[in-house]
Amino acid sequence: MLLLRKEIYSILLICYISLISCSAQNHDHIGLHHWEIPSKNPDRIILTFHEDPSESRAVTWRTDTTIKNAYAEIAEATVNSNFVTNSKKYMAKTETFDLGLYKGNKSLKVHYHSVAFNYLKPNKIYVYRVGDGKSHWSEWIQFKTAKNEYAPTKFVYFGDAQNDVLSHWSRVIRMAYQNAPDASFVIHAGDLINNAHKDYEWAQWFKSGGFIHSQWTAIPVVGNHEFIPLNRGDERKLAIQWKPQFTLPIEKELDEKLHETVYTVDYQDIRIIVLNSNGMLKEQTQYVEQQLKKSTAKWNIITCHHSVFSPAEGRDFEYARKKWKPLFDEFNVDLVLNGHDHTYARGHVPTISTTKGSKNLGTIYVTSVSGPKQYPLDREQIKRYSKEGYQLDKSAEQTQFFQVITIENNKLIYVAYNALGEEYDRAVIIKDFDSGEKELRVK
Ligand SMILES: [Fe+2]
Repeated sequence: MLLLRKEIYSILLICYISLISCSAQNHDHIGLHHWEIPSKNPDRIILTFHEDPSESRAVTWRTDTTIKNAYAEIAEATVNSNFVTNSKKYMAKTETFDLGLYKGNKSLKVHYHSVAFNYLKPNKIYVYRVGDGKSHWSEWIQFKTAKNEYAPTKFVYFGDAQNDVLSHWSRVIRMAYQNAPDASFVIHAGDLINNAHKDYEWAQWFKSGGFIHSQWTAIPVVGNHEFIPLNRGDERKLAIQWKPQFTLPIEKELDEKLHETVYTVDYQDIRIIVLNSNGMLKEQTQYVEQQLKKSTAKWNIITCHHSVFSPAEGRDFEYARKKWKPLFDEFNVDLVLNGHDHTYARGHVPTISTTKGSKNLGTIYVTSVSGPKQYPLDREQIKRYSKEGYQLDKSAEQTQFFQVITIENNKLIYVAYNALGEEYDRAVIIKDFDSGEKELRVK
């Protein structure tokens, strides 16, 4: 009888302990949507550039902390599933990340995993998957490596997604994918979300794009909303998720504070220089000068979040106009892609123009927005920029946009589409690669 009572007590104790541990585990998930909760299955899979786009890519994904060893497999794609027998397995770099570093998040630890695929062949379709190496794998996902020579290509650019991302940005990225499924890469020109460290917002950004993030190679640009204090009164800080969730090129010559927010991608003779317009601007002036001086690319494109010729009220980025624009002029930069102003403006320098287009073209400057937050244009401010050689060509208000940019032979074709997928604006640069002279056409 005594023995039986002891056994009953032991059983009750075990039940109590499991109940406590179970409720402690679940407690972290209370209030979270199911698509925010990490599990053994990979989520938030995102492809980024790492080294030479013709032979490498990086992939980053997330799981719960029970996945301690993670892997990625990659193979040249075949018309059937036989590629699996030739796949190469990479062990991932795994880091533990505590969402609770920011008080606005649940205190919850997750694992981020990343793999850099190297020694790929140019111009090939590859197929990869990520997982635990056993029973928790993603689907096989395809992407194409760049050619190692100049060739036609296409990419997508988004201004700020930022607010109500799942409700109101998802249709824009999905429309962009419908329009340009074969885009080689995608520039997210800052303010991907509103509150840098808020994991619920990153969850929305990843859910909005879904598999598109794992298929298009992303070039994320840091905006002011990815750079805010963790606690009131603290210094501004890069989103705590930024480095764990994006595996980006590291420019070793730059101060560590700028790593993975300032970098250059050379894609088939197109040089894309990504800047962090939040601070340490002087260091970046040197960087951009060197990158442009060294560039042998046929096209040079700059992207940073803050608008160099700002079309919205009270948002003038004087430093860029005074210190960066002269470099863009000197090195004949083709295109500058910005966000931040929640309105649309495409203009160019210098102001010389004809009704059919503009010869003697310098640089095209674009400010755009892909999310729902919209500001009015400040037409007086735009007019004042004409003293600095800027001419506005097309503008819009209250419209969500995405852009598809196609480069082919001596042409760069820029097209802005609205959220309905309708063409709103088009500009074509015709370039003489020998002289560097450019002409701006509307068709
Ligand atoms: Fe912004």
